[in-house]
Order: sequence, then C-alpha cells, then structure tokens
Amino acid sequence: MSEGIVTASYVGATILFILALGGLSNQETARRGNLFGMIGMAVALIATMSAVTANLEILIAGLLIGATIGLVLAKRVQMTQMPELVAMLHSLVGLAAVLVGYANFMDPERLQHFAGIELTIHDVETYLGILIGAITMSGSVIAFGKLGGKIGGNPMLLPARHWLNLCLLLASVWYCVEFVEQSAAGGGLTPLLIMTGIALLFGIHMVMAIGGADMPVVVSMLNSYSGWAASATGFMLSNDLLIVTGALVGSSGAILSYIMCRAMNRKFIAVIAGGFGTTSGGSSSASVEEQGEVIALQAPEVAALLMESKEVMIIPGYGMAVAQAQHIVNEITKTLKSKKINVRFGIHPVAGRMPGHMNVLLAEAKVPYDIVYEMDEINDDFPKIDVSIVIGANDIVNPSAQTDPDSPIAGMPVMECWKGKTTIVLKRGMATGYAGVQNPLFFKENTRMLFGDARKSLDEVFKNL
Ligand code: TAP
Repeated sequence: MSEGIVTASYVGATILFILALGGLSNQETARRGNLFGMIGMAVALIATMSAVTANLEILIAGLLIGATIGLVLAKRVQMTQMPELVAMLHSLVGLAAVLVGYANFMDPERLQHFAGIELTIHDVETYLGILIGAITMSGSVIAFGKLGGKIGGNPMLLPARHWLNLCLLLASVWYCVEFVEQSAAGGGLTPLLIMTGIALLFGIHMVMAIGGADMPVVVSMLNSYSGWAASATGFMLSNDLLIVTGALVGSSGAILSYIMCRAMNRKFIAVIAGGFGTTSGGSSSASVEEQGEVIALQAPEVAALLMESKEVMIIPGYGMAVAQAQHIVNEITKTLKSKKINVRFGIHPVAGRMPGHMNVLLAEAKVPYDIVYEMDEINDDFPKIDVSIVIGANDIVNPSAQTDPDSPIAGMPVMECWKGKTTIVLKRGMATGYAGVQNPLFFKENTRMLFGDARKSLDEVFKNL
C-alpha cells in the first residue's frame, strides 16, 4: 500500500472512530456506533500492517495471539465481570506503552536519528509514555482486584498521602531532567528505571486510596489515562493514527470521568489527586440490629400491590445484572402496561458496575427506551409514585447519602424512592452493597422487602399477576 493510501486509511479510521463515539452516546444508535468502531479498527489494522515491510510474520503471529485471547475472553466473560475485564485491558494498554517506551529508548539507531532539540523532545515523549503507561498499568491492576472483590473495597489512607503523592510527582520531574541529560551522553537507563518504579507505586497508591463507591470514577479515569498512554506511544512511534485515537480515548474518558464526578458529587481535581471523598475511615451507619425491623412480603402480596397502583417506578441495580432478571422485568412491565398502569424505569448514573450497565441490560431485554429515565429526570416524581420496585439495588437508593455526613457515600445523589407511597426492595438478604454501608431505606415504615434471588422472586410475582 502506498504511503498516500495508508494516510487516507488513517483519516478514514479516525472519522469512523469519531462516528463510533457519537453513536455510543445514545442507546438507539449504540449498535451502529459499535459497528463503526469495529470497521475503523479493521481499517487501522490493515493499513498499519501494510506499511510494515520487515518481520511481518512476527506481527501476524502477535495479531493472531491477541485476537484469539480477545475472542475467548469476550465469549467467556459474564456481563457482571465486564468492568474487571475493562480494567485488565487498560492495564495492557499501559504495559504496551511501557514496553514501546523501553524499546524506543534501547533502539541502537536512536542517537543517529535524533540530535539536539529533536533528541530532547523524543526523550521527553519516551519518558512521558513510560510514566503514564506505568501509572495506568499498576492502577488498573489494583482496580481489577477491587472490582472483582480480590482486594478490599475500603480506602487505604496512608498518613500524609497527598504529600507522598507530591514527592512522587517532584521526583518524576527531577528524574526526567536527569534522563534527558544522561540520554544525550548515551546513558539514561537508571533514571528511567527509577521513574518506572515511582510511577508503578503512584498508580497503586492512587487507586488503593479510593473507597468502594467511588470506583466508577476511577475506572473512567484509568480509561482516560490508557488513552493518553496510547497517544504517547503514537508520538514515540510517529504514528498519527495512534496519537489521534489515543487522544480520542483520553479526552472521552476525561469527559466521562467528569460526568461521573458530577453524578457522585465529587470534585474532579480531587479525583486526579487520588483518595478523594474518603475522609471518613468507614461507614458510620448503624448495624442492622440498631436500625429496627424490616417488613417482608411474599410474591402474591407484591403482585396485589402492583395491580392496585397507577404509577410504578422500577429501579434496577447490580443485583438485577447478577440475577439476569431483565427479561422477566420486561414481561412484568408489559403486563402492567396492558392494565393501564404507568410503568417507568429510573436509572442511577452509577447503578451496576459500569457506565450504562442498566441501560445495556434493559435494551437487551427490549424494554422500550421511552420509559427509561435518567435519575435527574424522574427524582422529583417520587411523591406521585404508588409503588417503587428496587431490583437488586442498594447504594443508589441509600438515604444516608443525604442524612449522614460521615457516610462513605455522603453527598452522592440517590434515587429518593422513600418519598413515594410504597417501596418494595428485592434482594437475597440484608447484605450491604458495593460501598459496604447499611441502608436505612430497608427499615422505613413504607418499605417492604421481597427476599430471594431477584429473578426467582419476579417469576413468582409475574405468575401472580
Ligand atoms: P450495590 O449497592 O452493589 O447493591 C447490589 C445489591 O444487589 C446488593 O445489596 C445485593 O444484596 C443485591 N443482589 C446481589 N445479587 C442479587 C440477586 N441475585 N438477586 C437479588 N439481589 C441481589 O448496587 P447498586 O445499588 O447498583 O450500586 C452500584 C454500586 O457500585 C455503587 O456503590 C457504585 O459506586 C459502585 N460501582 C459502580 C460502577 C459503575 S460505573 N456503575 C463501577 C464500580 C462500582 P444481597 O446480597 O442481600 O442480595
């Protein structure tokens, strides 16, 4: 392929990536967006490979291994494990940036290709690529552990942690200067290795300091970092497409982080510094015994309550994903609608374990989009709601976010279902949610519990309807 065609293919792939991002912003166009992304990636791969003249067999072997791992993972991973997979993939992007950085630095022809200011720029690119890559890699590995429950959700708050972060940052800047100076003289490996160690430590410390409920912001932030790492790799390899694609991922991840921060009522800058919103050592909520009694119902009673109502709000959470209850939820919705009962869905921005998690499940079950509302659109409507059904949700309907300033989720906006006439909570027991906080909603006078796996419980409710 001539250089002109490769460049044209890169431009085409970039446009397809932008169209993909545009498509993904809306449920109705998300499938098309994904398709654009896939075609764009195929174009990018073919164009990149066609520009390679030497060692093509190594490239093809790498591509086949990567594609096989990707296919197997995509087939095997459960929907509920998706955030862990994404975190793991981010760590691979980080690792790639680190490896490309070192390969670039060790290139024997480096000092012949670059001299003077060009060499300095190239070295700074390499240094930044490795720095961002290493932070992304270690941070993502910790995020993987936290999301999968392999590492505890409680924030690890070292004394003077912000000073520690500042020292790590200053040390990185100092070693950058050292590296650039030594590199011109043919050295530089020692400062590069020390900086890599510092960056790995920083990534671990940054994510360890973040508490359970704030993990969504971390995931989107690491997504953004992985984009910048890819972009830095693009600079190192002088690959325009990688620079642009990395910048697209980096900036869209940053925008998503900002949206997440707003949804969680957290400060964006504090997120970047790590360990934000974690002033309290843990939950101050009282234990189950201290909070009072819960009133449990059986499925026939729940069905009767639903049949008597005019306005129903369904609030899905992570438990709906675990139980795979979205299809039966759709059946119940259709039945209630056929009885002229107004059914709507209220989606909290961090319900589940990844952005848009609930929307994806409801779309899969073919719940019509026009009855699915964002939290901000429907939170004021709860006083008019007869029955709210909370399906496997916990943190997102926790009133202590508003009433307990010491709670780890204090300040996070929540779905105010307790303002409605009756709330029915479907869960298996009295376990806490992701943030590990007890939920006073379960003990309110107008709350009823339907214990059991959400799918089985809803099957029973459906039969009774
Ligand atoms: P959670 O607060 O995690 O609560 C889920 C509840 O579902 C649990 O209390 C659990 O109680 C119940 N459950 C689990 N399996 C069930 C099943 N088979 N049937 C019925 N119930 C089941 O979920 P949420 O309310 O959706 O809140 C999301 C949390 O995850 C927030 O803290 C958020 O910050 C965090 N998070 C979100 C994201 C994104 S981007 N969405 C990413 C990472 C973390 P039982 O065990 O008693 O059944």
